[in-house]
Amino acid sequence: MDLSSQSKVSGFVIPVEGLKSPEERLQPFAWFQKMRKESPVSFDAKRNSWDLFRYDDILAVLKDPAAFSSVRPQQGPVLLGSILGMDPPKHHQMRNIVSKAFTPRSIAELEPRITEIMGELIAQTEGKTEIDLLQSISIPLPVIVIAELLGVPAADRQLFKDWSDRIAESVEDDSEAAIQKFLADKEKVRRELDDYFMKVTLERRKQPEDDLITKLVQAEVDGEKLTDEEIMEFCILLLGAGNETTTNLITNAVRIFMEEPSLQEKLRQQPELMKGAIEEVLRYYSPILAMNRYATKDVEIGGKQVKKGDLVVTWIGSANRDEEKFPDADRFIVDRTPNAHLAFGQGIHFCLGAPLARLEALIALPLILAHFHDMRLPEGTKLEAIPSTFVYGVKELPVQFTPA
Ligand code: HEM
Repeated sequence: MDLSSQSKVSGFVIPVEGLKSPEERLQPFAWFQKMRKESPVSFDAKRNSWDLFRYDDILAVLKDPAAFSSVRPQQGPVLLGSILGMDPPKHHQMRNIVSKAFTPRSIAELEPRITEIMGELIAQTEGKTEIDLLQSISIPLPVIVIAELLGVPAADRQLFKDWSDRIAESVEDDSEAAIQKFLADKEKVRRELDDYFMKVTLERRKQPEDDLITKLVQAEVDGEKLTDEEIMEFCILLLGAGNETTTNLITNAVRIFMEEPSLQEKLRQQPELMKGAIEEVLRYYSPILAMNRYATKDVEIGGKQVKKGDLVVTWIGSANRDEEKFPDADRFIVDRTPNAHLAFGQGIHFCLGAPLARLEALIALPLILAHFHDMRLPEGTKLEAIPSTFVYGVKELPVQFTPA
């Protein structure tokens, strides 16, 4: 996942050939399929980028951080120094420290609070028979959870949401003016975030609280601690990597429930299927479509010569639809087993927030099904994809329902 873009080689500044129109961005799977078949390892001279589409090629790249680095050659203004953009041994050291603050146990402890927040969000839909799922539930839930986890006051939540949106924005066309505006926006958001988190970090050093920032201040491995800048970087990453992705997981799930209405009753009757259903949503409508790597040496992929320093874009959204790996890949199979999707990445950068995202979905979706029956898209709705080539979701998801 690459949430920043500084230069035109980043792969996300210049729109991607198969994902230019809104229709293509809503249904990128036809393009993915075509590329897997016709040109699974292809070079796009315009973006100066290699694009990989097959599961096996992508897995091999993600599992070989020595040959495929996460460190971008030209640093971007957002998330430049975060764990996401580090290689071993620095990555290993950093991951050890942040994992101490971000343990599966500390995530599991959030369960009652997440349930409570969901209860409040659902209560606000009282008396309605139509909502925009994003505004009502799937945007506020992860924003509130991360804000509370970090220890940010409730009054700053809207600020959080705005920052999160602005980090995830992509440039919509490849004109010089659009690119300049895009870069200026990213720099501005970066400065605001730096100031905000630096202030909170310094406050927690003086006055510890029961929150993640305090844990990050205190975490220590082999005598190593995080600097103020590293803590700031990590908080900004959580905001960018944790919010919109989880929003899209919940939204994409409900989108499928409306596309295949029989799933709604099935999952109500057999709640034990929900865990697997969430994995299948992650595979079928992956919230992240692509991640960047850079070749550290000349290397061959699928018979093509990739040169040292080249950008390699791993289209995990395509890997997750690869027929070689997933029989009937374009079908949503609620109890698909095995389901080794790559939606959370693979290898050393495997998503640190996966337990949190899964937990939020596992709490939110049964409650949505319990309160909103017969969920359907209002007549004539035309879904519109988020204008991004690496994040997958819709701008709005209107849901008509019968209150339970
Ligand atoms: C890494 C996806 C939710 C924090 C990643 C990566 C992916 C990903 C694909 C690997 C990036 C790479 O290899 O370059 C997702 C999806 C989510 C989600 C699909 C929701 C459905 C979260 C949440 C958090 C989070 C909720 C935290 C609150 C992170 C962090 C990393 C990461 C810190 C970097 C790990 C490292 O570099 O070692 N995520 N993520 N993510 N994610 Fe997530």
